[in-house]
Amino acid sequence: MGAVINVVGARPNFMKIAPLVRALSGVGVDQLLVHTGQHYDEAMSRIFFEDLQMPTPDVYLGVGSGSHAEQTARVMIDFEKVCLEHKPAMVIVVGDVNSTIACALVAAKLGIRVAHVEAGLRSFDRRMPEEINRVLTDRISDFLFTPSEDADLNLLKEGFAPEHIFRVGNIMIDSLYSHVGRARATKIAERLGLPSDGRKYGVVTLHRPSNVDDPEVLRGIVSALNTVSQKIPLVFPVHPRTRGSLARFPLTPYEGVGRGIAVIEPLGYLEFLGLVSGSAIVLTDSGGLQEETTALGIPCLTLRENTERPITVEEGTNQVVGTNPEDIVAAANSVLAGNNKFGRIPALWDGKTALRIADIVAAAVLR
Ligand code: UD1
Repeated sequence: MGAVINVVGARPNFMKIAPLVRALSGVGVDQLLVHTGQHYDEAMSRIFFEDLQMPTPDVYLGVGSGSHAEQTARVMIDFEKVCLEHKPAMVIVVGDVNSTIACALVAAKLGIRVAHVEAGLRSFDRRMPEEINRVLTDRISDFLFTPSEDADLNLLKEGFAPEHIFRVGNIMIDSLYSHVGRARATKIAERLGLPSDGRKYGVVTLHRPSNVDDPEVLRGIVSALNTVSQKIPLVFPVHPRTRGSLARFPLTPYEGVGRGIAVIEPLGYLEFLGLVSGSAIVLTDSGGLQEETTALGIPCLTLRENTERPITVEEGTNQVVGTNPEDIVAAANSVLAGNNKFGRIPALWDGKTALRIADIVAAAVLR
């Protein structure tokens, strides 16, 4: 019986695979870790292996950046060779990045069972490349591991048979609970010269093409951030995609006076989680961060028109505010005035998702 192949490619994959690698070892499943190399910078990749105490990948494909077609195609060509050599019993993919759909497609066509962790999420916005990746990966997966009921309902509406859907909870929250103590111990806010005595700064992240590749949208968001930063200092670790376009719009610099925006390089998992866990507010277009703030009870303003993670709005601390500068400032002012949503942590976001998945995978491949 072949091993299970776990696939990682881009930054948001690492914290989803790390707990699974550990849990699969615990139930005696042979596994291989394949890194496609979609993300390759030290700060976007290697530091996560260290922070999350993950094993070095067994196979590194090194595909790098490119257009969607180039990147997806390169992963497919190289991953097919890996599958032909190792003949895995199952391929496990996570999330919604190009590496996810590329590896799922290769495995499905070779007749290898595919498991998708974080199945069923839908923004219903096909302009997002991730939405296409989600819909297609789910369609060809045999095991659909979902984080919440809304995801199950989306899949049932699309005609999936209930016996393929397994509601296991949110695996990223396994990593969060395992590492939040070490994350706080990094004292990153203090080291960055931010006020570190009790939720006196905000955190910003931006990387969606719809926000950062469109100068008009980015101009509006930057003007909102500059306004918010007069009330509370903001720290902004800048994603490589955002770096170039941001140079055109000046951000009010942080000068350690309780205002302005500290622009910094991307952080690793522990430092970033430490930073967020001590913050008063998060402004972001990330998917994962909407969930992490819900788990931490920190108010999150999502600078997008929609979310594929509605449970973070219905039950958590998230508000989808769009990209209109007045709306962003009004929502931030309201949070900073204390009108927070006091959310609850959704069911099965309990740190045990990887164990539930590992039991199901073991039952399927060890028979
Ligand atoms: C990708 C995912 C997105 C995810 C994000 C998290 C897809 C379609 N998109 O977007 O869902 O939320 O990762 O970060 O899979 N670059 C570097 N160094 C790196 C990686 C990228 O400099 O290590 C630069 C390159 O200029 C590259 C650009 O960032 O062209 C975009 O990288 P890419 O992987 O294509 O998409 P992301 O925007 O990172």
